[in-house]
Formats: sequence, C-alpha cells, structure tokens
Amino acid sequence: MSTALVTGGTSGIGAEFARQLAARGDDLILVARDAARLDAMAAELRATGVEVETIAADLSKPRDTQRVAKRLADAAHPVDLLINNAGYGLTTKLVAPDIDEHDDAYAVMVRAVWVLSAAAAPGMRERGHGAIVNVASIAGQLSMGGYSAMKAWVLTYTESLANELHGSGVTVTALMPGWVRTEFHQRASIRSSSIPDALWLDAPYLVRQCLRDVERGKVVSMPSARYKPLSFLLRHLPRATVRAVSRRISLSRSRAAS
Ligand SMILES: NC(=O)c1ccc[n+]([C@@H]2O[C@H](COP(=O)([O-])OP(=O)(O)OC[C@H]3O[C@@H](n4cnc5c(N)ncnc54)[C@H](OP(=O)(O)O)[C@@H]3O)[C@@H](O)[C@H]2O)c1
Repeated sequence: MSTALVTGGTSGIGAEFARQLAARGDDLILVARDAARLDAMAAELRATGVEVETIAADLSKPRDTQRVAKRLADAAHPVDLLINNAGYGLTTKLVAPDIDEHDDAYAVMVRAVWVLSAAAAPGMRERGHGAIVNVASIAGQLSMGGYSAMKAWVLTYTESLANELHGSGVTVTALMPGWVRTEFHQRASIRSSSIPDALWLDAPYLVRQCLRDVERGKVVSMPSARYKPLSFLLRHLPRATVRAVSRRISLSRSRAAS
C-alpha cells in the first residue's frame, strides 16, 4: 500500500495524477487552495476504495507550505510519492514594476517545490524507497519570461536532487509537458486558439507515460514523440535561434490576445 501527495491535485494534470494513482490503489493526500473542489475530488476518489486526505493550502504562503511539509515529514504516516505539480502561467511582463505576481509564482513553483522535496526526501531515504516528481515544462527550454525561468529552475533542481539521492532508492523525475488541455491557459488568459492542434497533449496519456518513467527511475520524463525532437532541437540549436523562436511564440500569443 502506497501513499502519494499531489499538489494541485484538483484540476488538470494534478487531478489526472490523482485519478491514475487511485486507480492503482494508492492512498492520496491532495493539496490546493479551493476547499470545495478538494472535497469534491476527495469524494470522487474515495468512491474507488482508496483513502484520501485533503490539505487546503495556498503554496504562495510560506506558512501554508510549512503545514504541507510537516505532513510530508510525519514518519508515523509515510508518504511514498510526492508530486510537486501546482503551478500556473504568468501574465505580467518582466519589466513591470510590480513584481507581486512573480513573487507569488516563485513561492509556488520554486520555493514550495524545494521545501516540500526537502521535507519528503529524508524519510524516503531512511526507508530506502520513494519517488518525487516535479512538473517542469518545455517552456523551461525557451526564453519566455518568468515562467520559463522558473521551469528551467525546476529541471536543473530535479537533476541535482536526483544526483544527491543517487543510489539511495529514492528517484526524482522532472516531467516536461508541452501544451496540455487543462484550466492552465484560461487561468493565464492565454488564447489557446494560437496553439496548433498537433501540439496538444492529452493529460491521461501524459500522466500514464510519466508514471511509467517513474517506475523506471528516469530523471527526465518527456512524453510524446512530437515533443522529443522539439526538445532535442531546443537543447542543440544556438541560443540566439531559441531566443528568436521564443520571441515569435510570445508575439503570436499577444496578437491572438489583442
Ligand atoms: N497545461 C499545460 O499546457 C502545461 C504545460 C506545461 C507545464 N504545465 C504545468 O503543469 C502543472 C499543472 O498545471 P495544469 O495545466 O494542470 O493547470 P490547472 O488545470 O490550472 O491546475 C492547477 C492546479 O494547481 C493548483 N494551484 C494553483 N495555484 C496554487 C497555489 N497557490 N497553492 C496551491 N495550489 C495551487 C490549483 O488549485 P487551486 O486553484 O484550488 O489552488 C489546481 O489544482 C503546473 O505546474 C504547470 O505549470 C502545464
């Protein structure tokens, strides 16, 4: 019997992780801000026969993140799989004088990933098994503002943590989604009509592939034959070309939104 904690487990990719983990018999701990949605998701999953805890927490608030960390570090109720998934797209430009949106996003997509992994990993190492999944993004290989920078951090951090835990029985995996149909684009006011149909990924497929990669101990999970060559190119093209591609994508988004 395994227990998994999923941040952002009420919608999109996180909800899909929760459903697939429940389907294989894992008990779950779901973390998100909206308590009513947490309750609804917990009821849906309990109906499949697993146990579900919920923690209403805003991961942009260090005190809330600390509550989740405390649960992860509870040796009496071990967590075997941590999925750092909560996150969102950003609308503010880097030159905007008000950095509140970036501050909050940093707390959710960087700081919380670090604090929660640091809370979960020691117990996992002691028990000799466990897994951590950090949801990064192909956007981390582009140069598209604060979101790209934070997702690039997630990838580098994951690879570093995997090195630190190498040989301990604990695996660490960065999931690199491309575009996935979830609430993400609507929440960030991104007009998804500017994204070609061929580039959309299906959340159930993405999560299935990721869980398979976790079983295999892969450090980077890059589901989809469409995105693998794209990611390879982004790693090998001159950075000036990657910056030019990033400018074009950003421009097409702002045109679509205007
Ligand atoms: N969809 C894509 O195309 C795509 C592509 C690449 C990477 N990703 C990454 O995938 C992850 C999941 O995104 P998604 O597409 O599934 O988006 P989503 O459908 O909007 O789900 C986001 C989840 O995160 C939770 N969340 C947001 N802010 C939070 C906060 N401050 N504290 C706690 N929970 C919070 C939300 O619940 P509450 O609102 O109730 O808090 C929700 O459960 C993110 O890290 C995103 O960057 C998405």
